[in-house]
Amino acid sequence: MLHISGAIKKPGKEIALSGWVHRKRGSGGIIFIVLRDMSGIMQVAIKKDSVDERSWRMASEATVESSVEVEGTVKEDKRSPTGYELTASSFKNINVSEPFPITEYQSTELLLDKRHLWLRSQKMINIMKARSYIFRYAREFLDKKGFFEITPPILTKSAGETGANLFETDFFGSKAYLTESSQLYAEAMAFSLERVYSFAPSFRAENSRTTKHLAEYWHLEPEMLYLNNKQSMAIQEKLISHIAERLASRNDDILKSLGADKDDLLKIRPPFKRVSYEEALSILNDKGLKLKWGDDLGVEEEKALTEAEEKPMFIYNWPKEIKPFYMPINPRDERTVLCADLQAPKGHGEIIGGSERIWRYDELMERMHEVEQAKGIKFNMNNYNWWIELRKYGSVPHSGFGMGIERVIKWMLNLDHIRDAIPFPRMSNRLEP
Ligand code: 4AD
Ligand code: MG
Repeated sequence: MLHISGAIKKPGKEIALSGWVHRKRGSGGIIFIVLRDMSGIMQVAIKKDSVDERSWRMASEATVESSVEVEGTVKEDKRSPTGYELTASSFKNINVSEPFPITEYQSTELLLDKRHLWLRSQKMINIMKARSYIFRYAREFLDKKGFFEITPPILTKSAGETGANLFETDFFGSKAYLTESSQLYAEAMAFSLERVYSFAPSFRAENSRTTKHLAEYWHLEPEMLYLNNKQSMAIQEKLISHIAERLASRNDDILKSLGADKDDLLKIRPPFKRVSYEEALSILNDKGLKLKWGDDLGVEEEKALTEAEEKPMFIYNWPKEIKPFYMPINPRDERTVLCADLQAPKGHGEIIGGSERIWRYDELMERMHEVEQAKGIKFNMNNYNWWIELRKYGSVPHSGFGMGIERVIKWMLNLDHIRDAIPFPRMSNRLEP
């Protein structure tokens, strides 16, 4: 099927297009319609004395967002808002739209309530295209590196992270949870496929109303046998750079329309800065933020650290108290674990969390008990037995990480809020549409 983007390459030829009425105005014997399809917009001129009576009647009846079919010839036209104009030889409505509920100036709330319709806006069309490309480029990189894509379960019994923000559901009379990370399953599959990634939704019942938290987000989680944390970080920076480079070199038109800068993305080349947690604390204290050892970094701190950066920055080897139970103690500094978070530049926040995994059975049991004591919690070991058992049968060192794809989209497209990085956002105050 021919689209607007292809039609402009066929000036003077009789062509047919299908799409929607983006805008409409008329005066006397001529109606101007801005036609939209997935590829863009183009002005269509319907002149009363060049079309048959039925076409003229239908063009007169067409309303904004009506679905239409139009035939005619395209020519370049500097006066047209879209650079080209199609002079119609015939025009047909497929479905005349009722008055469209979204007009020019609308509240954010209304646009979220009418999200199913707002997705037709030029802004959302461009974001959703970029989202699809980002998914593609991420997969493209990992596929080339020899990873297998795996499909983890969404319903689980065990928490993959802290377990503090699990959505609980009923599973035939017993408790189940929507997965907060597919890591544990990726680990199991890594013991057969060696390098795997899952690209699936993760769920976090986080009541925080920030610009970077969703209750349901898409989580890219690679898991790699034999790699240590440093080697995992090297893969992470290459993955991010690949996505940035591809977007910049192939999707400049989308970036431009969203006000994002191609040149900013082309700067995202390895190596990224690596700062230990301890160094991060001293940088922050020098900036006047008073933090002590063991404090987590909040929005303020992330912003202070990355505001002036052009590239993402790793913060590695965090205090064991603020990281999950599966991370191994750093033998060089037993207060810390072997892990790294990747912070996007300009205060966009954490985009990746990753670590080495404890791979020896005894060490894991010891660490889990230590965590129970330190936090005053009790793991339901029954729920973890299968995952712990992986350490009994031919275990090997491995590392992995999780990337929140909407965080990456928000950063790379320079969006104000993470909700625009996903078609149907789920947040503490929104489950519809
Ligand atoms: O740092 P997190 O919690 O790490 C894990 O879940 C690990 N099990 C991943 C792994 O090693 N396989 O989450 C990883 C990433 C964060 O860096 C962030 O980008 C994203 O997931 N994320 C969220 N994105 C949107 N909304 C939320 N509420 C998010 N919580 C985490
Ligand atoms: Mg994290």
